[in-house]
Amino acid sequence: PYPYFAELREKAPLFWTKSLQAHVLSRYEDVAYVLKNPALFSSVDIRVNGMRPQDRNELGELSSVTNLVNSDPPIHTRLRGLVSRAFLPKRISEMEPRVRELSRGLVAEMTAQGEFDFMDGLASPLPVTIIAEMLGIEISRRRDFKRWSDSLMSATAESLRTGKMSEEATRSAGEMFAYMKEIAEKRRLEPKGDLISLLVQSSEGVEALSPAEVNSFAVLLLIAGNETTTNLLGNSLLALIRHPEQYEWLRNNPSREACAAVAEETLRYDSPVVGLMRRATQDVELGGGKVPAESTVMVLVASANHDPRKFPNPERFDPQRDTNGTLSFGHGIHFCLGAPLTRLEAPVALQELMERAPRLGFASRQPERIDYGSSFFLRGPRSLWLR
Ligand code: HEM
Repeated sequence: PYPYFAELREKAPLFWTKSLQAHVLSRYEDVAYVLKNPALFSSVDIRVNGMRPQDRNELGELSSVTNLVNSDPPIHTRLRGLVSRAFLPKRISEMEPRVRELSRGLVAEMTAQGEFDFMDGLASPLPVTIIAEMLGIEISRRRDFKRWSDSLMSATAESLRTGKMSEEATRSAGEMFAYMKEIAEKRRLEPKGDLISLLVQSSEGVEALSPAEVNSFAVLLLIAGNETTTNLLGNSLLALIRHPEQYEWLRNNPSREACAAVAEETLRYDSPVVGLMRRATQDVELGGGKVPAESTVMVLVASANHDPRKFPNPERFDPQRDTNGTLSFGHGIHFCLGAPLTRLEAPVALQELMERAPRLGFASRQPERIDYGSSFFLRGPRSLWLR
């Protein structure tokens, strides 16, 4: 799906793009090298369009808060140690019955109409509901939580482009911060079994997070975990419908493993995250040229996943291929904390869909060309009308 990236890999593996003011790397080897070397390629103070995080007014007061993705060791190491206990594989696998129940309900409701928007009916509500439940957001505030999530997501894309944030997004961010602080304090005094309770209590030598840190982490989960998973589900359906033989293969064996294989191949074939940013800490020779110290580097993981040097016949969508080494969840110290959760949600949702609606096709109102979201670093359909 990325002819332009193929051209970059062959003709300009190190490419300066004026619009983002960044050096773009597109070959697998170079992308993996950058992600593997956080001392040379920092996650702190990255300029996008020449603007530093504090100039971008990204999410208002949050722009100055250090979190997992925008930190380097040793701060990153400490933060990751504090929150990773909430994402242990055992904790995640215990969520399967709930993910299945929720998926089944959404699929039933969605397919009750002859034509429906898959993004609206399943791909978008599933991840945000799961995160809300994991965090322990009270039922009465779930609608607000979804609104905050949508608003923060569009605000992030907008502020990366323009350095500004809309009034509505600023208001949402304020509401969310107030609520998160309130709930963190409640759970500190009276813990329940949820993620916020876990984070505000110290245990076995692991210190507790402050209400501000809890808030920052919750916002990160919303931004890092929602639209990405939504896009993965949307991209999976698109790939299946556009590859009838593979869809038929899945229909003949809609097992959990086969659904997982479709999700993994979609991660490679049409990665929800197109690129990641870093700041070079010194001059580095890479991609056949020099990346100067202090410049911004954008590594195209979507392109790396299509590098024929790593994945033979990369333009073929083939759930039965070996997808080992796909970079869609990143690589190295920042490797996606939510990968186990995604690897639960996506296959289970696909399986429930195959069970109830194994023969989906584009609805009549589906345009020839899919309208992808407005972000330059995330990719997925904005709407996907099916029947
Ligand atoms: C980090 C992709 C789902 C939470 C990352 C990174 C990528 C990524 C590429 C690395 C960022 C970097 O190196 O700068 C994805 C994709 C997803 C997904 C493609 C789904 C298809 C989730 C979910 C959650 C989550 C469901 C949580 C509920 C995080 C967090 C980090 C992260 C907290 C930061 C880790 C760190 O910096 O140490 N994700 N993600 N992600 N992701 Fe995900």
